[in-house]
Amino acid sequence: MLIDGIRHRTIRVAADGASVELIDQRALPFEVRFETIRTHREMAAAIRDMHLRGAPLIGAAAAYGVWLACLESEALSPPGFASALEAAFATLEAARPTAVNLRWALDRQRAAVASAAGPADAARRAFEEANDIADGDVAINAALGRHGADLVERLRAERGFDTVRVLTHCNAGWLATVDRGTVTAVLYELHERGVPLHVWVDETRPRNQGALTSWELTQNGVPNTVICDNSGGHLMRSGRVDLILVGTDRTTRNGDVANKIGTYLKALAARDNGLPFFVALPSPSFDPTLPDGDAIPIEERSPDEVLSVRGRDASGRAGYASPYAPGTRAFNPGFDVTPARLVTGYITERGVLDAECLAQALSPAPKSGVP
Ligand code: MRU
Repeated sequence: MLIDGIRHRTIRVAADGASVELIDQRALPFEVRFETIRTHREMAAAIRDMHLRGAPLIGAAAAYGVWLACLESEALSPPGFASALEAAFATLEAARPTAVNLRWALDRQRAAVASAAGPADAARRAFEEANDIADGDVAINAALGRHGADLVERLRAERGFDTVRVLTHCNAGWLATVDRGTVTAVLYELHERGVPLHVWVDETRPRNQGALTSWELTQNGVPNTVICDNSGGHLMRSGRVDLILVGTDRTTRNGDVANKIGTYLKALAARDNGLPFFVALPSPSFDPTLPDGDAIPIEERSPDEVLSVRGRDASGRAGYASPYAPGTRAFNPGFDVTPARLVTGYITERGVLDAECLAQALSPAPKSGVP
């Protein structure tokens, strides 16, 4: 999507053909900074420390991490290469626990390198597979966006609203994927079709991913307004929201949805106000191996994320500030689970589904995205 009118993806192979460049999201929205990743350890750290984030992008980044691991160990003997690669898989897999796309991408890479003729062939296969995962993500999101936009246009016609007023939480935008986003694929598609649109953007404490959502929507011409996380219920109750659209890090077989902490409260408020609550669910974020949301590992991150806020001071300098007294304790679960009963439907690359259809329609995840 566009940054200052120029098309970008969040991740790409660098010109040297031996490293990966990604947008370092820690610097956004104040600075657009590309970071070069040369080793699988650097990639694991970039995922863990959230230089990049968002379930689909985490998956693509991990896939490129496997390619880098192959390059690092290409000179080793076949047994040495195999054990180095296994260790790299473990390092990458441990980077973040909740987004199932990470495991999904590593499983694809495992299968891709399994029958390689040697280290160089493994590196070639891992490179092709990582590119396929990245391109597949873009294709999935485009299809998901079309299905979602059709759905919203139908709702608009049925319910007679003019401007479509969407509330979203976190950043399920192009920055959270390779391109286009999941929630934002629907929004960008509607915008491109000329449907009048306004997006309420939850700020999404503690890391304020809403700042990313607002920035990317504005860069791509979609009208939006940031609200603090506590405002959503009031806006829904006072008739200023038509539907809620969120992403997911992992959706289980029964349709329970893990997404950024605070999503559950939005689903409860939507139900109380009779508003549709849709989840943008690309198939690699579906986990048919878990029966329900209780089994999803919920990441706990540093309390420092709650105790501090990043921003820019009056002189334009970016930094952190804390409104809390020194020694204050904080707890920071990164995600929550919204039960399937609160979800109106799942917007996927294969159409809009209800919870009962997910397992049949989405598993196993297709190799290259859209059938
Ligand atoms: O902790 P983050 O920023 O990686 O969390 C991201 C989210 O919760 C997104 O909503 C989810 O990954 C879907 S992104 C298309």
